[in-house]
Amino acid sequence: MKERKRHAMDLVLLTILGFGGGLCREQELLVAEGSVAVLPCVDVFAEHTHPTAVHWSRRIGDSFKTVWRRNKNGLEFRPIKDPLSARCPLDNFGKFIYNLHIEAISLADGGEYECQVEGKISKMVKVIMLRVVRASISPDVVVEGSRMEVNCQISPRPKNFTLKWKKDKEFVNKNGIDSISQRDAGNWGCVVSYKNQEVEATASLQVRGISTPQDDSSVFYAAVGSSISLPCIFTDGLIPNTTIWKKIGSHVPLPESFKSSSGFIHRVEDGDEGTYRCSGVVNGMNGMQTVQRSMKLVVAQVSSSSRGITAVTLFCYISSPGLITAYEWLRETRGPNDTRTLSIIQKSSSSRIQISERDIGEWICRFYDHEGLLGNASYHLDMMSALKGGKSSSGNKAALVMGLGFLFLLVFLILLQMYRIHRRRKMIHQYPAMESIIHQVATEREHRERSREKTAKACAAENQFECV
Ligand SMILES: *[C@@H]1O[C@H](CO)[C@@H](O)[C@H](O)[C@H]1NC(C)=O
Ligand SMILES: *[C@@H]1O[C@H](CO)[C@@H](O)[C@H](O)[C@H]1NC(C)=O
Ligand SMILES: *[C@@H]1O[C@H](CO)[C@@H](O)[C@H](O)[C@H]1NC(C)=O
Ligand SMILES: *[C@@H]1O[C@H](CO)[C@@H](O)[C@H](O)[C@H]1NC(C)=O
Repeated sequence: MKERKRHAMDLVLLTILGFGGGLCREQELLVAEGSVAVLPCVDVFAEHTHPTAVHWSRRIGDSFKTVWRRNKNGLEFRPIKDPLSARCPLDNFGKFIYNLHIEAISLADGGEYECQVEGKISKMVKVIMLRVVRASISPDVVVEGSRMEVNCQISPRPKNFTLKWKKDKEFVNKNGIDSISQRDAGNWGCVVSYKNQEVEATASLQVRGISTPQDDSSVFYAAVGSSISLPCIFTDGLIPNTTIWKKIGSHVPLPESFKSSSGFIHRVEDGDEGTYRCSGVVNGMNGMQTVQRSMKLVVAQVSSSSRGITAVTLFCYISSPGLITAYEWLRETRGPNDTRTLSIIQKSSSSRIQISERDIGEWICRFYDHEGLLGNASYHLDMMSALKGGKSSSGNKAALVMGLGFLFLLVFLILLQMYRIHRRRKMIHQYPAMESIIHQVATEREHRERSREKTAKACAAENQFECV
């Protein structure tokens, strides 16, 4: 009695699962495009130990078309026209598994498939609904600043499913961006959930434009006297000879080394700091599009000033110190055989260091932001600069002030002298009679002296004559 009941229950189960060669329920399979789809066809009741024939077919319209077939005599068949890269591994047959493997599945492969396994006495039929999920990006070519959308297709599309969007393994709440930037490049995808199955399909997004720097927030640090290269690297699609460099707020043309895709300064000078912009034209979906990138150059320099006789202050000047959080002072000393050793002398948030005039050698200022080292600038303190207070700007000013003072004194003295001469002349002019008197007296005296001389000579001559 009990035995018969159980047998009846088994029969019911068999009917539900679609066995016994009769009615069968469709099984759902969801796969991502490009992957290998394994269409299940398992004989769970192990009835078809030695199948005489296995036949996989696909529904096209109202009829079924063979995909893979193995006949009673062991011959295998595949369609000649539009064959799928499908196979049914024979070594699984012993385990009652007649799965069909389809490689590199595409959206067009979605649809209804049927597996028929024929035994000696019975026949098993299974129907599988294969749904293929595909993620794609439109338009095909995305240029920086333009609009992009990720699409998710399911073929055949079921009535009820849930869809979520992903960017680089993280869920996002939108599938499009109005103004795309290089940061949006990467893997975009969707996750489809349907009847307890979940499948993720991805598409990679390349953004045409300038790949380095990624955005306008780049800051470059360079010490005065060093060289620096400002990068402006384009993705493919750049139209040749369209790259233009400009320094914002400057009318002075940039040197030849700025003609190429990366700008190069051979020797950074005080005054080179500022914002530089490169731009170029790329081929987009709707013709030519201009893309541009701005970057900031910050210049670093160490200067010194003397305080008193023995102390020297070194100052680490950064043209735009907003991001700097720490300064580090190092001293490089040279040992025998030209060995160099660097030692950290001070690390603080101050850009100054007070040293002694005897601390001759190379001084290096390293500067950091909260993420790490940004750059360095160096200063050579020698005997002369220690005595003179270096080539600091304050030292220069002192020299200038002294020079000007000296010049003023000189001019003052000349003016004073001229004034005195002028005064004397004026005083004489006030008494013209006196002048003529003086003059008369002087000429009379001269006359008298001359005539006295003459008479003396005449006398002498007379005397000579008389004596002879
Ligand atoms: C769709 O699926 C959800 C669960 O995934 C279910 O709650 C809902 O009732 C379904 N809707 C229809 C119309 O089948
Ligand atoms: C780009 O410039 C180079 C020289 O700088 C020249 O040889 C080349 O013909 C130019 N190409 C175009 C497309 O104008
Ligand atoms: C450095 O100099 C010493 C002698 O002063 C010598 O013995 C040694 O080999 C030198 N080392 C190097 C690396 O040249
Ligand atoms: C200073 O910076 C230059 C270039 O970035 C680097 O080559 C050099 O090693 C740095 N020097 C120190 C002492 O950090």
